[in-house]
Amino acid sequence: MSKPFTEPLEMESSLHLLAWAAGRLAESGVYKPRLNAELLLSHCTGRSRVDIYAYPERPIPREAREGFAAAVERRAAGEPLQYITGSKGFRHLDLQVDRRVLIPRPETELLAQRALEAAAAMEGRPVVVDVGTGSGCVAISVAVECRSAAVFATDISADALEVARANAARQGVEERIAFRRGDLLEALEGELRGLLDVVVSNPPYIREDEFPGLPPEVRDHEPYIALVAGPTGMEVQLRLMRQALSWLSPRGVLLIEGGADQVEKLAALALGMGYGKVCAHEDLNRLPRVLEARRG
Ligand SMILES: C[S@@+](CC[C@H](N)C(=O)[O-])C[C@H]1O[C@@H](n2cnc3c(N)ncnc32)[C@H](O)[C@@H]1O
Repeated sequence: MSKPFTEPLEMESSLHLLAWAAGRLAESGVYKPRLNAELLLSHCTGRSRVDIYAYPERPIPREAREGFAAAVERRAAGEPLQYITGSKGFRHLDLQVDRRVLIPRPETELLAQRALEAAAAMEGRPVVVDVGTGSGCVAISVAVECRSAAVFATDISADALEVARANAARQGVEERIAFRRGDLLEALEGELRGLLDVVVSNPPYIREDEFPGLPPEVRDHEPYIALVAGPTGMEVQLRLMRQALSWLSPRGVLLIEGGADQVEKLAALALGMGYGKVCAHEDLNRLPRVLEARRG
């Protein structure tokens, strides 16, 4: 049984608060309850986790305790930790996230890495487009880590673009990324047709019938439009592959993230569409997760 909700408000020691929260979260089935409790307390007090353990007797002000109790209840109700703390690390970046955007996943760091490698291998000023930018994680990584690139970021969601713009501003690269709203590459001005050197995307790729069985943390909190592609799960990926053929430059490369069961299929379909060179990149679990397709 959980302790009464008011109890944490009477606890001044961080260790007592942590013990209460870890118990509350464990009881609700949250994975790694102690770690979640530490991260929430750190967020609500502005103190590091080390500091919390090093100075357990340092009193936690009542306002912070109230905020912490409320945050623990949100987490216990299944809200993702990153929406409560409002941040998520991605490569070297600390990005702000909320319900308007997908929480960037570790596997997408591989996609960003491939985009950076492709851009770095190109002479001059490579034009890089992040399609379905969400929080902006890929576009901002490219803008920060590849100073020679001209970066575009598109999304169909105006809400997502707002978050991406704010994240770019926080990283000091707002002026280096052109944000465009619209459907995949159609969001871009027509003059860019045939000039794109790197088209990189982590599009929605879940099947409609998979949606009800997703973990509630994902299903009930992250944007549907960021998750679900259609009946086969590959609708958005295939549309982007077809579109990109006429937008890529002769040296251009298309990089698309997909599920481990999708990427080999996409590679075979890319050859049929007219891409010249195609390969699949594996993640750390040796699963194919990124399609790379070149025009020539
Ligand atoms: C899986 S999320 C990826 C977000 C971010 N790039 C990341 O990796 O964390 C897919 C994104 O694509 C956007 N999206 C969905 N359909 C789109 C479309 N037809 N055109 C442009 N963006 C789309 C969603 O709004 C969402 O932000």
